[in-house]
Amino acid sequence: MTEARVSTRRHYLMCEPRYFAVEYAINPWMDPTQPVNAEVAVKEWTELADTYRRWGHRVDFVEPVPGLPDMVFAANSGTVVGGRVLGARFRAPQRAPEADHYRRWFVDHGFRDVFMPTRTNEAEGDFTWTGEVLLAGTGFRTDPAAHAEAQEILGVPVVSLQLVDPRYYHLDTALCVLSPGHVAYYPEAFSPGSQQVLRHLFPDAIIATQADAECFALNAVSDGRNVVLPLEATHLADRLIADGYEPTFLDIAELRKAGGGPKCCTLEIRNQVDNSV
Ligand code: ARG
Repeated sequence: MTEARVSTRRHYLMCEPRYFAVEYAINPWMDPTQPVNAEVAVKEWTELADTYRRWGHRVDFVEPVPGLPDMVFAANSGTVVGGRVLGARFRAPQRAPEADHYRRWFVDHGFRDVFMPTRTNEAEGDFTWTGEVLLAGTGFRTDPAAHAEAQEILGVPVVSLQLVDPRYYHLDTALCVLSPGHVAYYPEAFSPGSQQVLRHLFPDAIIATQADAECFALNAVSDGRNVVLPLEATHLADRLIADGYEPTFLDIAELRKAGGGPKCCTLEIRNQVDNSV
């Protein structure tokens, strides 16, 4: 018997890729010599926002800023648990100014507990809330000291995980939370010790294949039942269906040129510690 999966209403923050471009290379997916079409990126992104609204979720928008081509990747600019906001501190100088635009959005929208990290912290790119613990990636972007800082500021237990493959430079390219306590991940993206930790925490996880990981299948967004994932992620989608989830496919070919997918474009605002994934 497959479990009945239950969706819960989510609140997401997104930023239109109006000024999307690949002008620098800060991950192995980015090639500034290849053409990029911002209009196509906007179409892909609009489809994602429409999908969330169709599912009944609330979506808010940050105004994009010219000269910040990666600002569409909202996930990198905040980790919000229990209404407390921990902002970002980017590793790449090209992205550094994004952090303050998002900080301002939170302050202007009534969030009173807004904190800015003192260590490199790429927010939900490297932090993901399972419903009980905050999984935290390091190895390429977020400083391990930022994990301890997140635990102090957000007041939730943090579990550090070591990423080892530069193609999966953020935790959200290698692992996604499907429903409270249920995850899918690509083991090879993690160090042997972290793989052991993941096996211990999530004995019933969906184990992704290399083909899944390569098309950014793990950069999926789940509301507990509906899961949006890249068009090519058919293998992982079959696994999800067998486990009671409902996949929706999205073309992210343009966004992937910057090394991003659905999850990268989505910052989740969790107002209560226990209300969501
Ligand atoms: N070009 C961006 C970077 O390298 C992509 C960020 C993708 N975001 C994510 N959450 N994985 O920083």
